[in-house]
Amino acid sequence: MHKNLLIAFTTILLIGFYACSHNSQIIKPLVTPIDTSTHHITDTTSTTDTIKEVLDTSVCFQRDILPIMQTACAKSGCHDAITKKSGYNLTSYSLIIAKGVVKGSASTSKLYTACISFKMPPSPAPRLDSTQLTFLKRWINNGAHNDTNCVVNCDTTKFTYKAALVPILNNYCNSCHASSAASSSGGGIVLDNYNGVLVQAQNGKLMGDIMHTSGYHAMPLGGSMLSDCKITQFRKWIAAGSQNN
Ligand code: HEC
Repeated sequence: MHKNLLIAFTTILLIGFYACSHNSQIIKPLVTPIDTSTHHITDTTSTTDTIKEVLDTSVCFQRDILPIMQTACAKSGCHDAITKKSGYNLTSYSLIIAKGVVKGSASTSKLYTACISFKMPPSPAPRLDSTQLTFLKRWINNGAHNDTNCVVNCDTTKFTYKAALVPILNNYCNSCHASSAASSSGGGIVLDNYNGVLVQAQNGKLMGDIMHTSGYHAMPLGGSMLSDCKITQFRKWIAAGSQNN
């Protein structure tokens, strides 16, 4: 009797094992897990010279909000650490959330309402564009967190003027270098059209400035250095002939 039970038990166990090992061969994961080890920014001198980042549509403070604040709002004479116009110092996370931000409610946050009503940034500085406004709204509604570990949306295999450079210039540079703002806040340097960018690419100042090379003007002025991936996109675009592509 005991022997029979043992045989029956072993048989069930074997069938079970077979079924499991069999299943594992046919069940494929629906979603390929993201390999987080590839999500870091590699040095520009990396041997492959190819940095790919996964597209992340959610908002992230360090990536999407801080650059807007630093370059479009924290300008000298406006909301930098010295002027602090109307009590707003928009240079860092703790200072940004200190005034005008109601966590979870963009519609009652002055930081957002002033921008959506186009009071800020004041003319002739360009308004925030619809992507920037959406980011700001989403970030506040999400709770205005200090997200630092952002997935960077950048790919060094793409380095055309329109697809790669224009979005960077719009986000990090044209709050000062748009045609309308250049004379008042961009030293007369215009970067919102191809010819303007070409001049700075050819005279070497564009690369010198974004790489913070000594003897150049570190850009974006008052903001953090662009990521290695973005700098690589500029470098590759110039190496390929600075075309209007
Ligand atoms: C907050 C305003 C501001 C932002 C943002 C900004 N710049 Fe500038 N930029 C300036 C000013 C002001 C000057 C003039 C500097 C001078 O001549 O002293 C300047 C000068 C330049 C020059 C000419 C430098 C030279 O040596 O004559 C280049 C090129 C440039 N910026 C590129 C950029 C790029 C690229 C970005 C974005 C990645 C950027 N800037 C973001 C304010 C800004």
